[in-house]
Amino acid sequence: MNAIVSVTKDWGIGLKGKLLVRNPDDMRFFKEHTMGGTVICGQTTFESFPGGALAGRRNVVLSLEPGYEAPGAEVYASLEEALAAVHDNKTDDVWVIGGASIYRQLLPHCEKAIVTKNDVVLPADTYFPNLDEDPVWRVESRADGGVTGSGIPYEFVTYARNL
Ligand SMILES: NC(=O)c1ccc[n+]([C@@H]2O[C@H](COP(=O)([O-])OP(=O)(O)OC[C@H]3O[C@@H](n4cnc5c(N)ncnc54)[C@H](OP(=O)(O)O)[C@@H]3O)[C@@H](O)[C@H]2O)c1
Repeated sequence: MNAIVSVTKDWGIGLKGKLLVRNPDDMRFFKEHTMGGTVICGQTTFESFPGGALAGRRNVVLSLEPGYEAPGAEVYASLEEALAAVHDNKTDDVWVIGGASIYRQLLPHCEKAIVTKNDVVLPADTYFPNLDEDPVWRVESRADGGVTGSGIPYEFVTYARNL
């Protein structure tokens, strides 16, 4: 499985349940990668989707809330159950899409991390692990993304697992 995330310079990913950087081009990039596959997310991230479950993808949600229902999604109460549920999928088709708690728990199971790096620091309350400081990860490729509508330069960086 792979992780896909958008981070600021200090690896911030969210504030008060919301994304930090608004970027329709990055949304399209996210959609292109995940379409047709399986996405795994936490309850908080699932509830942040404006239109509910992500269309065209199998939505897997982790929640500890008893009886929690997420329309259009499968809900699991443990990492083990969620991992078992996606076990038969092709590795490349399973995407860890956040938030912070899910990235932290599933990163050890990921082979790649597709990171949109925004060249800005913004107030945040949730963070992705800093892959540049982790010897487990190396940069495999990078591509210039452009500049967001609010003037933030960004690039697409693919990290691959070393170990
Ligand atoms: N920049 C990006 O690319 C990106 C992507 C996704 C999300 N985000 C941001 O990240 C923030 C949300 O992150 P978050 O860490 O607060 O929330 P989250 O990871 O989306 O969801 C947390 C929820 O998942 C449950 N959970 C976690 N691990 C579980 C497990 N092993 N088994 C069952 N349930 C489990 C938690 O239950 P308990 O609390 O009961 O443990 C909690 O209800 C938002 O601001 C969002 O916008 C950013």
